[in-house]
Amino acid sequence: MVLSTGINRIRTAVFISGTGSNLKSLIKFSKSNKSPISIELIVSNNAKAKGLNYAKIYKIKKKVLNFKNKNLSENKFISYLKINNIEMICLAGFMEILSKNFIKKFKGKILNIHPSLLPRYKGLNTHERALKNKEKYSGCTVHFVNSKLDSGKIILQKKVKISKNETKNSLAKKILIQEHKLYQKAIIKVFNL
Ligand code: GAR
Repeated sequence: MVLSTGINRIRTAVFISGTGSNLKSLIKFSKSNKSPISIELIVSNNAKAKGLNYAKIYKIKKKVLNFKNKNLSENKFISYLKINNIEMICLAGFMEILSKNFIKKFKGKILNIHPSLLPRYKGLNTHERALKNKEKYSGCTVHFVNSKLDSGKIILQKKVKISKNETKNSLAKKILIQEHKLYQKAIIKVFNL
């Protein structure tokens, strides 16, 4: 796919594990004139991920992989990505940890979205922990992926105010709306557009 500026779009794979609302928002973004990326592949570690339906809806190739099976030939998967000319990977609610080897192979080309203001609340159950600690704010972060969990260079963050009667579900919803906006802004920033 070619950008209106004549530049080739970056062939991107999105990795998901669940609902895929970030995936859907990235697909919509990728179809806009301002997008530097085209989404060519959806990868999931979960065959039942709801987000896989977007492969059919938007006619995008999909691949389900059992990441827990350590015998799975990672090199074969890397080759598969290379054969499909995947240049960039966006993790979007992908709940599996990628191996050091994998990350090395795509160094500087993997982005992740995390539902907290990193470096606070790395890992799981971010909203519960933020509420338990009576934080006034939480938010979301888009960052490069390195070999340490949720620790790569931060690209962009968005702060979200925690209301008085906030629950983990209401906070998750509020943050998710911001995630959808933040991910595309971060991609534009990465490509300096
Ligand atoms: C999002 O809130 C994303 O930030 C989070 O999972 C949710 C996925 O929602 N990711 C992580 O917690 C990664 N550690 P989605 O499937 O609707 O995009």
